[in-house]
Amino acid sequence: MTSTQRDIEVAYDVDNEFFRLWLDENMHYTSASYLTGEETLEKAQLQKCGILYDYAEMSPKKSVLDIGCGWGANLQYLALDRGVEKAHGITLSPKQANEIDRRGLPGVKVWVEDYAKFNPPQKYDALISIEMIDHLVSPAQAREGQAVAIYREYFKRVAEWVEPGACFGFQAILRNVVPRARKDLEDLAFTADVIFPGGLNPRLEELITAPHPYWEVLEVRTQRESYGKTTAEWYRRFQLHEKDIRAKWGDQVYADYDRYLSTCVKAFDRHWSSDVQMKLRRIAL
Ligand SMILES: C[S@@+](CC[C@H](N)C(=O)[O-])C[C@H]1O[C@@H](n2cnc3c(N)ncnc32)[C@H](O)[C@@H]1O
Repeated sequence: MTSTQRDIEVAYDVDNEFFRLWLDENMHYTSASYLTGEETLEKAQLQKCGILYDYAEMSPKKSVLDIGCGWGANLQYLALDRGVEKAHGITLSPKQANEIDRRGLPGVKVWVEDYAKFNPPQKYDALISIEMIDHLVSPAQAREGQAVAIYREYFKRVAEWVEPGACFGFQAILRNVVPRARKDLEDLAFTADVIFPGGLNPRLEELITAPHPYWEVLEVRTQRESYGKTTAEWYRRFQLHEKDIRAKWGDQVYADYDRYLSTCVKAFDRHWSSDVQMKLRRIAL
């Protein structure tokens, strides 16, 4: 099973204000792209959007769908920073969709919809998806060897939403080396079970093979260190707001997110996890 609506509510619906405190003002909840290592988180997040914009071969007159659009940070970048006239998004979280509507972005429209049931009102010129695929395969399905088939089904379905030749700027978290210490395994399991129930990060090799035969893989760029920096900055901001967070959302939320964020920082530092950006082009079948 892919993450259910309930799983998504657990992951993203603590409270929009809670996430805004320690992410950034626009609420990107995915790895930024640090190019020099000296940038602010805010600048690195815009650089991430820029890389995916280029991978999608976007321009202001082209329409684009952001699959798993979160609170709309990338839609905001498309509409305001790039002047894209039609930028649509889907998310499973009603609170995220409310936040996007609240921003009143020109040309932006969002649906609360599972990608597997979504029938877009039109074909798009390009697709972007930032760390949504990590929700599609459960640990049990991966153990049963179903991961590639499920990812392939995803790439097949979204390919129907564009014409051959269209490009897809895609980003995903990856799982990599498995830690040996029991405590580290427990911390990773905690993150998967309590903070992000229902999903398991893919392996790079699964994502190289799954787009076939619907998409040609044109470019692959990994950015493990960027995710390490991103999560370290989230954790720093989270700790700065400890008093506020405990007062508004309670000690359990603070303890859970403290464990989750510190585990993320370790995971990217020790190669347990990584992150990939890919440029894909729709093949004519
Ligand atoms: C880690 S968040 C990333 C959000 C956003 N792309 C960003 O960069 O901040 C994953 C997003 O995928 C969405 N999602 C997960 N499974 C989905 C599905 N089956 N259909 C549509 N959206 C889904 C969630 O609702 C959430 O918005």
